[in-house]
This record gives sequence, structure tokens and C-alpha cells, in this order.
Amino acid sequence: MLTLGIETSCDETAVSIVKDSKVLSNEISSSVHLHSEYGGVIPEIASRYHTEFIYDVYKKAIEDAKVNIKDIDLIAYTETPGLPGSLIVGTAFAKALSYAADIPLSGVDHLKAHIISSLVNKEDGLMDKLFPFIGVVISGGHTSIYDCRALDDFRIIGRTLDDAVGEAFDKVAKILNMGYPGGPLVEKMSDGYKGEEISFPKAYLKNLPGIDFSFSGIKTSVLYYWRDSEKNENEIKKICFSFQNAVKDVIGYKIKDAIDKTGYKTLLAGGGVINNSAIRNTITLVCAEKEVSLYLPEKEYCSDNAAMIAFFAQEEYKKS
Ligand code: KG4
Ligand code: ZN
Repeated sequence: MLTLGIETSCDETAVSIVKDSKVLSNEISSSVHLHSEYGGVIPEIASRYHTEFIYDVYKKAIEDAKVNIKDIDLIAYTETPGLPGSLIVGTAFAKALSYAADIPLSGVDHLKAHIISSLVNKEDGLMDKLFPFIGVVISGGHTSIYDCRALDDFRIIGRTLDDAVGEAFDKVAKILNMGYPGGPLVEKMSDGYKGEEISFPKAYLKNLPGIDFSFSGIKTSVLYYWRDSEKNENEIKKICFSFQNAVKDVIGYKIKDAIDKTGYKTLLAGGGVINNSAIRNTITLVCAEKEVSLYLPEKEYCSDNAAMIAFFAQEEYKKS
């Protein structure tokens, strides 16, 4: 089965062609460079960029996959969640294409697609063998844990009460005047740091019954620490390292809690923050300690991409 996926929920204009679980093409054009001076995504700029580039990205994806639009069995697009003005561009493009080429259409939940992104390019039919599993999304807009019982039965069991992890990374980078997106910049600054660590607050929220997260307190602590500290590179490295370490510890604790509460033996995680090596290592260590099979996406499929959208829609379509 050949599926064309379209992703425009934020600042990536992405189109991918997937044949069963194998990716034939994965085109991504990002407007990230246009947002960096603002320290965050400007929705109006993102949607204008999608409008300008979506047709070129589509053409390149079709050419790279060496397919013809007439061969496509299903068109998938990100339906929700995302920036409304950005989602509209992908949705309208997908609907027009579906109508013109007479191909079935399927809207996809972006977060569920992130969860299964680790199964892209793996063996066909693998997902069915993995249920029930814990699904984790750690991205710029979301930090959520799901109890995944079947493809049509993903139940949310934990979410952030305020900032998402990626958002906290981005805000810390903004406080330190480092640019956008903050995650990769903070990780790079932390690399190789060996000095003392600042004890930033870790919100374990042990008195709450759920598996929820909170990252606004640590962000504020970084703001006050930086206001009162010397303004030099060592201080920036110290802040980045300490912030990343605190976040990583909280994620490790929450994942352990989700494993204990569900009793499940498989965990799938995805989202832009899964690019972070320290966070990947923590999740890997926790799962090894708890004897849980872990699936993490290749780095190419952590951040927003259309292959995961096509793949998720295709799995749903095969079951319908
Ligand atoms: O999944 P994604 O591409 O978009 C959303 O759906 O939100 O995630 C983007 C987020 C940004 O906040 C970015 O700073 C973060 O992922 N990110 C990272 C790293 N690479 C990207 N955070 C920490 N470390 C990284 N290496
Ligand atoms: Zn995303």
C-alpha cells in the first residue's frame, strides 16, 4: 500500500511517501530560520511559509519516491493538534489533492503519530504485536503519557500541567539569548560540562495521583539564577547542563511511574525532545532496569515529519 503523508502543524512543511512501513521519501522544509530572532514560532510567518512551499515539497517527495500520484492509495494529513493557520494549509492541500486525484483521505492526530514514529522503517505488522504499550510524546507543544491498548484506544494517563519539555528548553534558550529552537542549543552547551551543578527544582509532584509534569517552576528558577549570575560562558554552560539534568531526572522518574502503574512491558517514545542524547539515555536506562522493551525513533523521525503521519493513517486504513 502506498500512502502520501502531509504535515504542517507547526513550522515544518513536510511530505512523505510510505510503502507499508518503508519510507520512500521524506521531504522537510522548515521555516525555523525565520523564527529564530523571535525566540519562538510566529504563527503568521509559519502559515505563509507553508503556503509558499507546500507544492514544491510535495513535488520533490513524489519525484524522490519515483511514484506517480495515480499510484497513491491514501492521502494522510495532520488534522490536530497544531497552529490553526498552519494546519489549514496542509488540510486544504490534502483535500484538494484527494478530490482531484480521487484518492481516499485520512486526518491524523499528530501526537499519536509521534508515539508510533519509532516503528517507521521497521517490519510490517510490528505494531499489532506490541499492544498494550506505554506511549510517550515529548515535544515542543506536548509532554504526555498514554496507555495504548489498540490503534483506536490510546488513553492519556499523564500530561504537563503547564509548559511542555521542548517549550521549557526553548524558553531557557531565550532567557540566555541563545536563539530558537532552544533544545539542540542547550544540549550542545551542556556537552562536556564537568563543573558544579546548580540545584534547580525537580517537580516530581509525588502528592498528586496522576503521572503529570510541571516545568514552569524550573524555567522561573533559571530566569532568577541568570538575573543574579555573572554573564559568562561558563555560567551559561552550568545553567544548560543543570537544567537538562533536572528535566532528565523528572522524565526518568515519570516513566518509571508509568511502567509501575500500567505493568506494561513495552514503551514507545517520540517527539522532538527525543533527539536529546541525555534524555534518550535516561529513558533507555529506566527501561533496561525495569526490563521493558523500548522503541525510540531514528533521529530523522523524532522531530516533525510526514512519514509518521502517513504510517499512522495507513495502519488505521488497513484495519478499517
Ligand atoms: O516534535 P517537534 O519537532 O514539534 C512539536 O510537535 O512540538 O518538537 C520540537 C521541540 C522544540 O521545542 C525543540 O527545542 C525540541 O523539540 N528539541 C530538543 C532537541 N531537539 C529538538 N529538545 C532538547 N534537546 C534536543 N536535542
Ligand atoms: Zn510534533
